[in-house]
Amino acid sequence: METKNIGIYVHIPFCKRKCRYCDFKSYEDKEELIENYIKYLKYELAQVGDGNSMDSKEGYDKLAIVNTIYIGGGTPSFIDSKYIVEIINTIKEHYTLNTCVEITIEVNPGTVTREKLQDYIKCGINRLSIGLQSTKESLLKQLGRIHSLEEFEQTYQMAREVGFKNINIDLMIGLPNQTLEDVIDSINKVLKYNAEHVSVYSLIVEENTPLYDDIQSKKLILPEEDVERSMYYKVKEMLEENGYIHYEISNFAKPNFESKHNLACWNQEEYIGIGVSAHSYTNNVRYSNIDSIEEYIKNFETNNEIDNFIFHEKQNKESQMQEYMLLGLRKLKGVQIQNFKNKFGENPIYLYHKELEKLAKQDLIEVDGDNIRLTKKGLDFANLVWEEFV
Ligand SMILES: C[S@@+](CC[C@H](N)C(=O)[O-])C[C@H]1O[C@@H](n2cnc3c(N)ncnc32)[C@H](O)[C@@H]1O
Ligand code: SF4
Repeated sequence: METKNIGIYVHIPFCKRKCRYCDFKSYEDKEELIENYIKYLKYELAQVGDGNSMDSKEGYDKLAIVNTIYIGGGTPSFIDSKYIVEIINTIKEHYTLNTCVEITIEVNPGTVTREKLQDYIKCGINRLSIGLQSTKESLLKQLGRIHSLEEFEQTYQMAREVGFKNINIDLMIGLPNQTLEDVIDSINKVLKYNAEHVSVYSLIVEENTPLYDDIQSKKLILPEEDVERSMYYKVKEMLEENGYIHYEISNFAKPNFESKHNLACWNQEEYIGIGVSAHSYTNNVRYSNIDSIEEYIKNFETNNEIDNFIFHEKQNKESQMQEYMLLGLRKLKGVQIQNFKNKFGENPIYLYHKELEKLAKQDLIEVDGDNIRLTKKGLDFANLVWEEFV
């Protein structure tokens, strides 16, 4: 039997303080739930790993090999590192790990100590993702970040000193009051730090965030679209000139440092999400866990854990192929025709000739040898491309 490769995502929904733009599932005022939450997170990990849960019934294969583990949030570095060690140990106990498994943890300056970083590295975590967002103090304040640039630099330096050799830095562009010069300054500093990976996200103004209200009331003004685009292209130019590969719309990496976890998602590989609101994809089924931490815990306590499970869809071949296109076109390499043929036994050029011709006429995609990919214009109007594949 062919062995499957999977990724594991573990969600830690706690933050010291909620940032003004963020609508990820995270709480700033529920520290009293941490201990119980971790208890049931480990229980869920064990149940799935041993093949005893709904997730398993939906197709998790006990023989699967874990290629990547991603501990995200929220702010995983906010909680005591003993919990992170326990999570990793539970995974090691109940799953089979690839010998070169990539294990990432998201950390936030202002919540990290040398001891925490040492605990991470000792238990096998080999990749850090640090949220910086901007190097300008006034922008960090405006975003509601809890840290200064100096605290970021201390965290980064400590991470290097304890031995992390694979570090990602998250940045944001298109922020109110952010200028092109601010972005250039951020990139120059990131180049000086010499991180292996840089993610640069264009701000999404999410409803129900304080930032949304500030923009609605015109207290804050977003930069014009052409300014935001010039920020994006400046980032791309500066990082590429300095040896980074632009491999996905928002992601840049030194050669061989692409995030294996994210690449697997864009290649439509399987993953299991553990914890509140975590999403999973196994055996062509997309499902997620319930959105409320109180209910997540209560359902375990009352043996109703089945209620934590929310079914989204079972894909047929057609929706699987469409989604493969949509996810694959996020990568700068695009969709490789041969890979598509190997996976589905069909040629995407014929299958989607109407959509592809239309998009090519609009100069949004191009076919180059084995690759169907976004053009430069397609990078700016990727939404128009996705629309053809939903
Ligand atoms: C899930 S967050 C968690 C990482 C970590 N807690 C932090 O804040 O640094 C991952 C990244 O998503 C990005 N992000 C969060 N909200 C966003 C938004 N509304 N628009 C664009 N990027 C966002 C930020 O760059 C953040 O670092
Ligand atoms: S620290 Fe990260 S997850 Fe927490 S609120 Fe800020 S952006 Fe969101």
